[in-house]
Amino acid sequence: MLRSSRYIVALMVVAIVAAVAPIGSSDASAGIASLYRTGDWRSEKHVPVIDCPVEFKAGEPTTVTVTIGKETEHPNTAAHHIRWIRLYFIPADSTLPYEVASFEFSAHGESVLGTDTSTLYTDPKVSIDVRTGVPGVFYAAAYCNIHGLWESAKAITIAE
Ligand SMILES: [Fe+2]
Repeated sequence: MLRSSRYIVALMVVAIVAAVAPIGSSDASAGIASLYRTGDWRSEKHVPVIDCPVEFKAGEPTTVTVTIGKETEHPNTAAHHIRWIRLYFIPADSTLPYEVASFEFSAHGESVLGTDTSTLYTDPKVSIDVRTGVPGVFYAAAYCNIHGLWESAKAITIAE
């Protein structure tokens, strides 16, 4: 009797949890784009900041820098860090993106001795030279191991 009572209670708990908590925390039909967040980089340290001229000279190398935590530094520890930054470009006459660059950050204070045992850190700031002859939009994406996916965008033109 006691055993069947426990079984019924367990079933009731499962039913209550299933009714209150949906499986997963997001709507799968919304797609991965719905998981990206953005905001004002001056107050939200996760938002990638894309620094480059708004006007490129056709075919000339132009430096594009992407920074996470430009105004307020983001933590960089084994427990909380930026894992990667990716940069895309969509020409104005297209709807399909080019992947411009992808950066992985692999040092967050850990070593073979364990977490927070080294003095080596890869800060989430990258610069690359890009050449293009068409206007378009750069999109930066980044991933924080605690706070998820973040994005920003910056349009550029080509000098006449
Ligand atoms: Fe974070």
